[in-house]
Amino acid sequence: MSEVYDTVIRGGRVATASDVFDADIGIVGESIAAIGKRLAAGKREVDARGKLVLPGGIDSHCHIEQLSANGKLNADTFESATISAAFGGTTTVIPFAAQHRGMRLREVVADYHKLAERGAVIDYAFHMIIANPTPETLEEDIPALVETGHSSLKIFMTYDRLKVDDEELLDVLAVARKSRAMVCVHAENHGLISWTVKRLLARGHTAPKFHAASHARAAEAEAINRLIEMAALIDQPIMIYHVSTAEGAAVIRAARGRGIKLFAETCPQYLFLTEDDLDRPGVEGAKWMCSPPLRLASDQEALWRAIALSDLQTVSSDHAPYRLDADGKYPSGDASTFKEIANGMPGLEARLPLLFDAMVSQGRLGLRKFVEITATMPAHIYNLARKGSIAVGMDADIAIWDPDRAITLEDRMMHDRAGYSPYAGRKLRGWPTQVLSRGRMVIEGGALKVDKGTGKFLARDGGEAAKPAQGATNDRAATWRSYVL
Ligand code: URP
Ligand code: ZN
Ligand code: ZN
Repeated sequence: MSEVYDTVIRGGRVATASDVFDADIGIVGESIAAIGKRLAAGKREVDARGKLVLPGGIDSHCHIEQLSANGKLNADTFESATISAAFGGTTTVIPFAAQHRGMRLREVVADYHKLAERGAVIDYAFHMIIANPTPETLEEDIPALVETGHSSLKIFMTYDRLKVDDEELLDVLAVARKSRAMVCVHAENHGLISWTVKRLLARGHTAPKFHAASHARAAEAEAINRLIEMAALIDQPIMIYHVSTAEGAAVIRAARGRGIKLFAETCPQYLFLTEDDLDRPGVEGAKWMCSPPLRLASDQEALWRAIALSDLQTVSSDHAPYRLDADGKYPSGDASTFKEIANGMPGLEARLPLLFDAMVSQGRLGLRKFVEITATMPAHIYNLARKGSIAVGMDADIAIWDPDRAITLEDRMMHDRAGYSPYAGRKLRGWPTQVLSRGRMVIEGGALKVDKGTGKFLARDGGEAAKPAQGATNDRAATWRSYVL
């Protein structure tokens, strides 16, 4: 019998964000060609009996080979980061092309493309970090780059080197509305943070645990609120990154109740770790330093509730890896203060196994919600039209999970270059055993099966999610916009 399909994934239990059913999946070339029972033979047959067949994960917030907020380069290359992502069941990443002050945005984007083309083993898009919203950036580069498929911008409301002030934030929101791009925001009140940092250091409170105190909880809720009010006035959809507090989630809930179009995410670190992790001897707590900082067990509960209510639609890694040496977390060795220690932790590979264990194995919100927040919603929000679900015609980006495999996470299991995992020692149930990207077997038998540089850039326009809400805000705001935009 001649083979109809290039690959058939046979006998598994398939899950999407809306359905769970037993079926074979037939792949031709890069796409899913058929879903059904007893499909004809494939040139490659993958036995998925007893396994879950899920859309590959989309990690829509990760820092790769990037010049970061403190001027350091992340520990990973596109090669190491995307290999690590693939081992964890992720098939698409959206990292950043990071402009710093004085840089021409179009050159920055071209440079990051070169790095990704050389290294990526899975598909990728870019968010463009705007740190220098000059007329050239706003009027020339952003519109031109959105046209060529870079339809999301990222801005920081804090970090000395990257932050935009309120007027610059409004400029970016206005230009995004015109170009139809999503605006992603790190929302924390800069003045409150820097004032507190100075006082903590002056009083000799330099250990990593003071990082949590330096980012007061109010800094998040205040900035999210300010951001939402400005975005609603401009009528520009936004994505609020890494929500960490119950108060932040409450502001988002209230705004959604007013009909304001906004999206928000949290990250595994805010669901599975707490500020107690920072409180270790010496500077060891640096491993758990990220911004916003880790919070309380009560915040974890509030964030899970916000996921259940779809106030938070995605859970991304915010992978920001630094090695535990002088080039990474410890510029002054054991004397490094929390102010000097780079913010961020690795998480590309552990994101899905952590969430799978909590949501599927332990049953918190279940398999469909797992697929929704890790694949389907990121695809919708960032308009990755061929990704994020299992359906005929979609890219064959598939992760096959063994729901019974028990794993104890260890530093040495991770494929990124941070050299540690903040989750080491955790016992998890469920692991991706085979991972396909556009029909190519990327991971099988614990080994990488593709060459570096075989991932593809995903050009995308802003789509439905980036479209202004038009009319959801009040008439006065529409009149105001007719005057100022
Ligand atoms: O601590 C973090 N999250 N570092 C990465 C940069 C950012 O804030 O997104
Ligand atoms: Zn951030
Ligand atoms: Zn980040």
